[in-house]
Amino acid sequence: MSGTRSFLIASTAEQTDLQLDSQGNLRHLLTMHNLEQQHITMLLDKAETYLSDIGKKPVRSTTLQGRTVASLFFEPSTRTRTSFELAAHRLGADFLNLNVNTSSRRKGESLLDTVYTLQAMQVDVLIVRDAQTGVPAYIANHANEFISVLNAGESTIAHPTQALLDLLTIRQQKKDFEKLTVAIIGDIKHSRVARSTSEALVTMGAPDIRLICPESLTPEKGTLPSQAKILHNVRDGISNADVIMPLRIQRERIENLADIPTVDQYYANYGLKSSHMSLAAPDAIVMHPGPMNRGIEIESKLADSAASVIQEQVKNGVAVRMAVLAAVIKSLNYKDSK
Ligand code: CP
Repeated sequence: MSGTRSFLIASTAEQTDLQLDSQGNLRHLLTMHNLEQQHITMLLDKAETYLSDIGKKPVRSTTLQGRTVASLFFEPSTRTRTSFELAAHRLGADFLNLNVNTSSRRKGESLLDTVYTLQAMQVDVLIVRDAQTGVPAYIANHANEFISVLNAGESTIAHPTQALLDLLTIRQQKKDFEKLTVAIIGDIKHSRVARSTSEALVTMGAPDIRLICPESLTPEKGTLPSQAKILHNVRDGISNADVIMPLRIQRERIENLADIPTVDQYYANYGLKSSHMSLAAPDAIVMHPGPMNRGIEIESKLADSAASVIQEQVKNGVAVRMAVLAAVIKSLNYKDSK
């Protein structure tokens, strides 16, 4: 990325401007910030149509037949990358995973030259994960009009498809966002999931969003929705909560690990345990975006308990990514003669 930093678009306003086309259709998916309720509901409703029961054949369609979807992951991933790949296959697309470690980026090729190379190969959708802020919007701003960019995880600031799958999972369990108390616990400072999911919850009308973290992992002011409350005590934070989502500590983003609690301190003070659940609402659900560190941010038996919807989140991830791919392809439909 050296040499490109000054071109990066970091502002969420600029991302918002890029992500809809002139008719208001989803052109790229870059952020949940300012993505309106109607768009979120449309994507969740569409995702529902791509769900089938475990043990049955997954839903398939030909919506993306003849299209090519490529993934460019500059950070590790299990769920997001594989679910995008399955989503593309189930919609009939060709799927290309660029292995960044064996690509010519290792020989000094720039990010944009890599994008232009895939563009020349007639890729329609680029799915991007990067540790640096602004990369998905930067690509969207420079790629040609025949490419849609999907943000699959951007630094500490955005993970929009995770937010959508979280909302779909909550909607399946709780129906009504407008009465919800949601508690997100952990490394709020570095969590793109906390940001995107709380932004989306605010848009959907959730009235009580609590972000619970150790003092040393408190987010900077203005980096999360102002409606969300920051708390430092887990017992207070989960009191009467309908939805509880612990997060892992993002060690790879923390400059001085000595500033954060040890694993034992963290589990003692911030690990979510079965014994906490009596404080939450009687039918509270436990979520986790993954990857999960059992015995650190969540007690292992709680992750596998009846309250846990973690596997539903994973399943919904494929359906949500199918819905997003189908939506952006619609905005590119004018190039069917390409
Ligand atoms: N939740 C999430 O983004 O998981 P992966 O890092 O495995 O994609």
